[in-house]
Amino acid sequence: MKDLSLYALELAENSLEAEADLVEISLKELDAAFILEVSDNGSGISGDMLDKAALAGYSTKGCGRGFGLSELKTAAEKTGGSLKLASENSRGTRATAKFIKNEFCPPMGDIASTVRLLAVSRPDSDFLLRLSSPRGESLFDTREVKNTIGSLSITYPEISIWIKQYLEEQTKLIFGGAADEITC
Ligand SMILES: Nc1ncnc2c1ncn2[C@@H]1O[C@H](COP(=O)(O)OP(=O)(O)OP(=O)(O)O)[C@@H](O)[C@H]1O
Ligand SMILES: [Mg+2]
Repeated sequence: MKDLSLYALELAENSLEAEADLVEISLKELDAAFILEVSDNGSGISGDMLDKAALAGYSTKGCGRGFGLSELKTAAEKTGGSLKLASENSRGTRATAKFIKNEFCPPMGDIASTVRLLAVSRPDSDFLLRLSSPRGESLFDTREVKNTIGSLSITYPEISIWIKQYLEEQTKLIFGGAADEITC
């Protein structure tokens, strides 16, 4: 079973493949559900393709398998939730997956490592991570990190380790436990 962080990574990969340079990942815990939302400022999906995008095997990429969105939709619907896509041509895309908390809901996985990996492997793009639950909200923004470190690169090991530690702390604060231990 894929965890929510791996779905977040696959959605962010779609965003980067659509030439987005700003990707926002949001993980929100409600009383009875988890909402994973990824929005970007990429090329967008045109109206007629929007209905097809989450069909198994649908891909506009030469090397794409076309299973990223369809697997996410199946997993969300298995819990009684849903996947919704919204897009405006050339202005970006938003994917919102709702997972109802029950035995079919995937665990959260390691969102701190996922966002560190994205930030370090794509230093020219920016990533926001919004975590929220009834305990509170936290917002991480690589643009702020880059402003703070000035001429240093976000790919420096010291900085990437700091990002992971900071995000692990925030995850613990918002969701109340080590990232690996959180299940729905
Ligand atoms: N954020 C996005 N911006 C623009 N188009 C998108 C976005 N996400 C998905 N799409 C469109 O929907 C199609 C299906 O996406 P999906 O993730 O299911 O498959 P894929 O990325 O083509 O292949 P893979 O199975 O390797 O993920 C993509 O080929 C692309 O045309
Ligand atoms: Mg994909």
